[in-house]
Amino acid sequence: MEEERRRIVIVGATSAIAEHCARLWARQGPVDLVLVGRDAERLKRLASDLEVRSSDSSIRIVPIDFLNSEAISSTVEEIAKTPIDIVLIAHGMLPSQDACQEDLLTCREALEVNGISPALFAEAFAGAMDENREGTIALIGSVAGDRGRKSNYAYGSAKAMIEHYAQGLQHRFFGTKIKVVFIKPGPTDTPMTARLKAEGVSLTPVVDAARRIVDAIDKGRRTVYVPCYWSVIMRALRCLPGFIFYRLNI
Ligand SMILES: NC(=O)c1ccc[n+]([C@@H]2O[C@H](COP(=O)([O-])OP(=O)(O)OC[C@H]3O[C@@H](n4cnc5c(N)ncnc54)[C@H](OP(=O)(O)O)[C@@H]3O)[C@@H](O)[C@H]2O)c1
Repeated sequence: MEEERRRIVIVGATSAIAEHCARLWARQGPVDLVLVGRDAERLKRLASDLEVRSSDSSIRIVPIDFLNSEAISSTVEEIAKTPIDIVLIAHGMLPSQDACQEDLLTCREALEVNGISPALFAEAFAGAMDENREGTIALIGSVAGDRGRKSNYAYGSAKAMIEHYAQGLQHRFFGTKIKVVFIKPGPTDTPMTARLKAEGVSLTPVVDAARRIVDAIDKGRRTVYVPCYWSVIMRALRCLPGFIFYRLNI
């Protein structure tokens, strides 16, 4: 008997982390992938690459405006007409904190793209999975959401918001077959961190991060740091008393 194929939706599919997750899922066996992104041309290129890697998989692209709640609602409703096994919500942007302080439009975009938009996608997919009574919703947050810091609090506060949202969904679906996985990567080698790389910051290879993310999603883990040692670092940072923390240049 032919094994049932998983149906996986990736929102922000053109992100480097998401692309590597898609490759890993495609490598596990034929899969039905729905790639959601803002740029149709980039989505087409990604789909062609995945088709070469996994000719038995079916791949569909869905371009959408990520900040339009009506578009999110109708797009998710349409995608969810066929039951979904996994949705990975991966989009994000990292403007410099200085840029957010100097220009409120940039600050607003950082808050909306990293916070409101992923939360709306999660809510829409949660509604669809609630009807089907199973599935996994995974959201990519960041270690930056663990404590407000002067170097990245616009980005970090949006990531903290989606962590809170994910916790609420985890509570809502406790005891059901719906799993909500929240992923907190540390600095990872992708286009988003090109600036950090140029400054010599040590970055996790994106393939390693994707491997851990796919594993956490497949296991339905609740909260995962990527790599795991970030949980120790961030616990220490969260515990630092203010009289030490505020003196740090981080
Ligand atoms: N890299 C890291 O060190 C790191 C660390 C912690 C958390 N994360 C998180 O991991 C996720 C994936 O990041 P990545 O490192 O793979 O980044 P990436 O390769 O730079 O990808 C960013 C993704 O977000 C999309 N995006 C950017 N601005 C957007 C907007 N205004 N509207 C809609 N989509 C937008 C991009 O779409 P286009 O392709 O169309 O530009 C792309 O799909 C993000 O949520 C990020 O915050 C990354």
